[in-house]
Amino acid sequence: MRHVISPTDLTLSELDELLNLSEDIIKNPKKYSEACHRKKLATLFYEPSTRTRLSFESAMLNLGGSVLGFSSADSSSAVKGESIADTIRVISSYADICAIRHPKEGAPYVASQHSSIPIINAGDGGHNHPTQTFTDLLTIKNLKGRFENLTVGFCGDLKFGRTVHSLIGALSRYAGVKFVLISPDELKIPSYIKEEVIKARNIPYKEVRSLEESIPELDILYMTRVQRERFFNEEDYIRLKDTYILNSKKMDLAKEDMLVLHPLPRVNEISVEVDNDPRAKYFKQAEFGVYVRMALIMLLLRESEGRSIC
Ligand code: NCD
Repeated sequence: MRHVISPTDLTLSELDELLNLSEDIIKNPKKYSEACHRKKLATLFYEPSTRTRLSFESAMLNLGGSVLGFSSADSSSAVKGESIADTIRVISSYADICAIRHPKEGAPYVASQHSSIPIINAGDGGHNHPTQTFTDLLTIKNLKGRFENLTVGFCGDLKFGRTVHSLIGALSRYAGVKFVLISPDELKIPSYIKEEVIKARNIPYKEVRSLEESIPELDILYMTRVQRERFFNEEDYIRLKDTYILNSKKMDLAKEDMLVLHPLPRVNEISVEVDNDPRAKYFKQAEFGVYVRMALIMLLLRESEGRSIC
């Protein structure tokens, strides 16, 4: 059974297939409107979500399938103490494919060990968020036309931001990529990512504090929210939450074709005045999330059934 727990679970050629299929869906959505007829997607969300859950649901509905699930741990048997292993054993007989978001790192992986249907990690704690990464990659492919030779700045909460961890892993597979890691000392990228991904692949990178000083060299600026829910104390969160605010003045220092991405939700790290800048692509990025999830659901179901369903 094929699962997607980390973005690098897909080989580069499978990723190409996913992104090409996503682009074909954008061009010919009608062609796919019955691709998952009679198939069911379960969405098990133990943590809050707007875009990820609703874009998964929208994706399955666009494919002619249906959706069942829950949107908070409180409304599931988790509150009664049920393990994720037991939950997924049961859900495997209710649905054909399942997306799981969980506050604990590794929970979707544990689920995959007990599942007879494909599991998609929809975000596990501060660890990984592969479908956001596929969304980010589709956005970059569509708007920049390449992954190679890009200088990508990640700004904000690089410690807890799972979207950052996943995207670094995925972009590290392309030649000529450079990373500029912009954060306060307390929110630096975890050392396991620095050692096992960035340094292991000899990717040029630097860790800096100033957004103003680094923005001129970037091809992509990936802004992130400071992850309040993952802090141990509120005081630290309050002290760090407004470290970076991207505004028009800072955008004046950037390249004319730099893309501003953000997985959303935004709090106040991007001033609303930036929304009208043609380089601000975060709402377009959120739109791409539906297409890439449609493609992923199709490819996983196709593989689990050993036949083409589209
Ligand atoms: C992100 C997440 O949940 O990790 N949101 C998303 O899925 N689009 C980022 C965040 O919550 O800040």
